[in-house]
Amino acid sequence: MKAWIAPRPGLVKHRKSQIMEKITVPLGERSYDIIIESGGAARIGSAVAGLGLRGKGVIVSDLEVKRLYGSLVADSLTGAGFDVTVLTIRAGEENKTLDGVARLYSDMLSSGLDRKSFLVSLGGGLVGDVAGFAAATYMRGIRFVQVPTTLLAQVDASVGGKVGVNLPEGKNLVGAFHQPSLVFIDPKLLATLPAREVRSGFAEVIKYGIIRDPDFFSFLEWNHEDILSLKPALVEKSVAVSCRIKAKIVAADEREESGLRAILNFGHTVAHGLEALTDYTTYRHGEAISIGMACAAEISSKLGHLSESDADRIIALLKNAHLPVTFSRLDVEHIVARMRFDKKAIGETIRFVLARNIGDVFLSDEVPLEVVEEVLRRRCDASP
Ligand code: GLY
Repeated sequence: MKAWIAPRPGLVKHRKSQIMEKITVPLGERSYDIIIESGGAARIGSAVAGLGLRGKGVIVSDLEVKRLYGSLVADSLTGAGFDVTVLTIRAGEENKTLDGVARLYSDMLSSGLDRKSFLVSLGGGLVGDVAGFAAATYMRGIRFVQVPTTLLAQVDASVGGKVGVNLPEGKNLVGAFHQPSLVFIDPKLLATLPAREVRSGFAEVIKYGIIRDPDFFSFLEWNHEDILSLKPALVEKSVAVSCRIKAKIVAADEREESGLRAILNFGHTVAHGLEALTDYTTYRHGEAISIGMACAAEISSKLGHLSESDADRIIALLKNAHLPVTFSRLDVEHIVARMRFDKKAIGETIRFVLARNIGDVFLSDEVPLEVVEEVLRRRCDASP
């Protein structure tokens, strides 16, 4: 039997058959709204006009997303009275560099952007990171709007203002906290996303249930198939609940100082190790997080924080969503060495986000390396 969970009261009915939800990220003078509206992309122009922006702007995208949605968004902005140019950056992690940003600065200058102009980032997490970093630094910072087009970016990367690029020495080593002025999410834009990318984004959605919301986790257990097949009302609910959780966490710990925002990294300690060792080519980010969450659940259970049955529920949901929970062809010692390097760990323990219950996690600096190694060994080539 399927549990159909109806949209909550509080959702705003926008037009016939269109539901719009507005979530505010309360950050004082840097507060902004996340608008979630299926089929709403053509209204981006009026939403941007509502911010009090005027005149010249650029849309930054990659070639593929520009081909799919560039004109839709550009026409909407032009229709609202803006003078916009569409710029592209190269897709691929290898282009998330200072050189890539420098090319973008030149294009922004040639397009006539000044300090009062704005930037719209149209794409996945990579476009948002690079375009957001350019917005944070161009002429000491201009306003920008996030229009995320992947599930991963809609539920995580577009909210919270983390922007930046990689250095040859490591990922995201140069960056800023630069909050957008608006995040405009149209879940219908996910229709063109490959199924593997949808699943990868879904790993982040599951993460929100684990870190903050047991009812949402149950909702995902019941409805994962329909969400992965992009049933509109279910996708909207998943995106909205995820964004609401992220907005609260960001509002309470904008610059990741108190340790609260760090819980968003549940599953990331192992994931970053796996991604780095495989040069970011083997796993999509969400796939690495899925393996990392399975490991974090087992470590939590081994250390007596989480019941075995809850760890099993976490791993079962990941598997049912066709996400990986094991890895192969990698040395456990190499993964652990990489994790220790990333976390600058000294001694025999390492920092992890652990679970006490589904919906309740905490940061621990006391995870013994031998437990991490033991769990990684079980997850290595274990039967899926
Ligand atoms: N993606 C983690 C964060 O925004 O803090």
